[in-house]
Amino acid sequence: MSPDDLDEMADLLGDPRVMEYYPRPKDREEAAGWINWNQRNYAEYGHGLWVIETHDGEFIGDCGLTWQKVNEAAALEVGFHVKASAQNLGFAAEAATACRDFASSHALASRLVAIIHHDNRPSQRVAAKIGMHRDRTLTHSSPIHLVYAMDL
Ligand SMILES: CC(C)(COP(=O)(O)OP(=O)(O)OC[C@H]1O[C@@H](n2cnc3c(N)ncnc32)[C@H](O)[C@@H]1OP(=O)(O)O)[C@@H](O)C(=O)NCCC(=O)NCCS
Repeated sequence: MSPDDLDEMADLLGDPRVMEYYPRPKDREEAAGWINWNQRNYAEYGHGLWVIETHDGEFIGDCGLTWQKVNEAAALEVGFHVKASAQNLGFAAEAATACRDFASSHALASRLVAIIHHDNRPSQRVAAKIGMHRDRTLTHSSPIHLVYAMDL
């Protein structure tokens, strides 16, 4: 993800259908901040959210690995956003599988989590498809979010 992706990232994160389970869609400035945040993640940790694209170079969305807080401790999260016109085609599951395998092969953490709004069924389904299960012993600061997890 780089500043060259701003138009596509602003469309993605500005789409109310994609941001249904967020407080509100992001404006262009916030999308630029999102790109900046991921570039800082790459520099600091060697990973972050990456752009998903097809072999033909079509922009699909983002997916990747970021550090979040679960049970008040740092936890490696896999996250994903897919543009509305490309949803339900398996892109998030494929990208999240690659991220899971990257986290495992690079020994980034002993556990992978996904922090998911309790009504967000597609996201819960993606988590399940890559081998995660809801873990009731793990909590996030937001009570309306569930924590899915798997050992790496
Ligand atoms: C979550 C999201 C990334 C999934 O992307 P995707 O590329 O469509 O995911 P996939 O195609 O790999 O899998 C989606 C699965 O959800 C299922 N699904 C879709 N809508 C569903 C619903 N309303 N209830 C239950 N399952 C649903 C699909 O059938 C599919 O499962 P299947 O392969 O067993 O049929 C996409 O919906 C999205 O961008 N949502 C908005 C952003 C978001 O919420 N991100 C996650 C934040 S935690």
